[in-house]
Amino acid sequence: MCGIFAYSGPKSNAPETVFEGLKSLEYRGYDSWGVVTQPGESSLQPKSLVVKKRIGKIGTNNINELPSSHIAIGHTRWATHGKVTELNAHPHLSCDGKIAIVHNGIIENFVKLQADLRASGHKFVSETDSEVIAHLLEEERKTSDLPTALRNVFSKLKGLNAVIAMELNSDTLVATTNGSPLVIGIAKGEIYMASDPSALLPYTTEVIFLEDGVIAIWSENMLRFASTKTGKKLEPTSQQITWKAQSAEKGAFAHFMLKEMHEQAAIIRSIAKKAESNSNFDYKKLADRIKKARHCYLVGCGSSWFIARIAQYVFAKIGVLITPIVGSEFLEAAPALSKDDFLIVLSQSGETMDSIKPVKLAKKSGTGIGALVNVPGSSISRLADITLLIEAGPEKAVATTKAFTATLMHLLLVVKAMDEKLFSKLDFNKVAYGVERALSTAKTTQLDRLAKKFQNDEHLFCLGRGVSFPVAQEAALKVKEVSYLHAEGLAGGELKHGPLALITEGTPCVVLAPNDETYADAISGAMEMKARGGFIIGISPQTHQVFDEFIAVDDLGLGTIFLELAVVQYFGYALAIAKGLDPDMPRNLAKSVTVG
Ligand code: AGP
Repeated sequence: MCGIFAYSGPKSNAPETVFEGLKSLEYRGYDSWGVVTQPGESSLQPKSLVVKKRIGKIGTNNINELPSSHIAIGHTRWATHGKVTELNAHPHLSCDGKIAIVHNGIIENFVKLQADLRASGHKFVSETDSEVIAHLLEEERKTSDLPTALRNVFSKLKGLNAVIAMELNSDTLVATTNGSPLVIGIAKGEIYMASDPSALLPYTTEVIFLEDGVIAIWSENMLRFASTKTGKKLEPTSQQITWKAQSAEKGAFAHFMLKEMHEQAAIIRSIAKKAESNSNFDYKKLADRIKKARHCYLVGCGSSWFIARIAQYVFAKIGVLITPIVGSEFLEAAPALSKDDFLIVLSQSGETMDSIKPVKLAKKSGTGIGALVNVPGSSISRLADITLLIEAGPEKAVATTKAFTATLMHLLLVVKAMDEKLFSKLDFNKVAYGVERALSTAKTTQLDRLAKKFQNDEHLFCLGRGVSFPVAQEAALKVKEVSYLHAEGLAGGELKHGPLALITEGTPCVVLAPNDETYADAISGAMEMKARGGFIIGISPQTHQVFDEFIAVDDLGLGTIFLELAVVQYFGYALAIAKGLDPDMPRNLAKSVTVG
């Protein structure tokens, strides 16, 4: 969940480069941050690496006091072991201050390792599991060079971990991983390392995704790879990232979340265009596997799970039963997998540990795996048999918007590859236009006004029926995630089975009422809530007297869900803004949830 960035090369502003890299990775974790580099010539501590760490977001901080140097590593933290303090922030140093490490993951056996190190005289300054790596390296370094030391240390760590290390008076960077993402950015005479390819875009598009069990060694202007276990030389091939540097920047928008919402229309158009020309996307391959499968499972977490749930309704419309299961429950909820089953995993980041576990189980069981992911080279994209890159471009806001839309659209196109009829009236260009209209100034002004009205409320309910039920759940997730207002997404029919007890005078109730077979029932639900004092915000192609506030969206059949989504995404954003919160980096959360 943490962000790692490292540089070694001819630039003398390595700390600054790393600091900028951390800013672009901050969405991965923002409890605290730190940068380590070589001491300057006038340093009072020439025998130790120098570190700057701070708690909180990077914000307007700087690293002016760090000396110029040609090598640095940095880290943004999402705390697992130990509170959010400066001492617990990375990088961590060995006792002698000569070795520094940054770490992403969880060292399951750190208690034992720490006890042994303490017994042999090592002093720990943090409560983290990560610090053991620095001390273990210090021990190993007595008899080996840094790469060998890291290989030996890594063999002692249990769990899924990624580590980068450097040492005093050396330009060497070493990095290895098993299960946590690390990308090596290659440029002439210099090297970049990051936990996400989007952070490398300002410098290079040539990357190597570090495979598990591989160590990358940058030393004396040379990049080498070896097996972490055996030390045997390896030669992984590099690949080009097609993302553009600007796509990872905010540009004129106040927040990434806002920018990413507004990118959705263009993404819909681009996917539709490619789908028409039949280029790139493997819809047929996925469709064939679904048709042949005994059971097909759709797996995802958070928003990705809601996409799976929407897809379930759409597949049902063509008579295909697929089972959506939330990633963290899969092992318990799914029956034993077999070769005849097929599992499709949905993950923007491609790194969500709770989604990787079912994938690994499927691999063991010989079950076919399809994946829809956004980040090229990510773990899930490498584990799957068929990977469909959703091509939404880098998504930086913790709350997903454009990746949700892109993934959903690809899944609809998989359904279309199985049965054209359902889509005879679905025009994605109209959907793109409808999303633009849903995010027009007229609409966002209306939503801003509503957000101000409800910013101090405690609860919000969102009601949907049929395919709009999981959209209502996604709406609630968006609202709670960025505005901290308690929100619940409900199936309309469930109201009278309990939730109605929570509706009191003025409770905000969002009702999704598309012009389909669920319209009448959606209105009944709105009536029931209104009768208990609820303030009804109707999102629908047609108004109704039950609505206290009407947000009009175009009537596009199944395509209407994309417009509902755009409206509820913006509503969540507007609530966060009304409350003075940062929607891009909500408290306690991180973009890539790489721990299970
Ligand atoms: C969505 O707004 C959330 N940030 C979160 O629920 C997210 O969808 C979930 O963690 C899954 O992430 P993934 O798609 O990268 O696997």
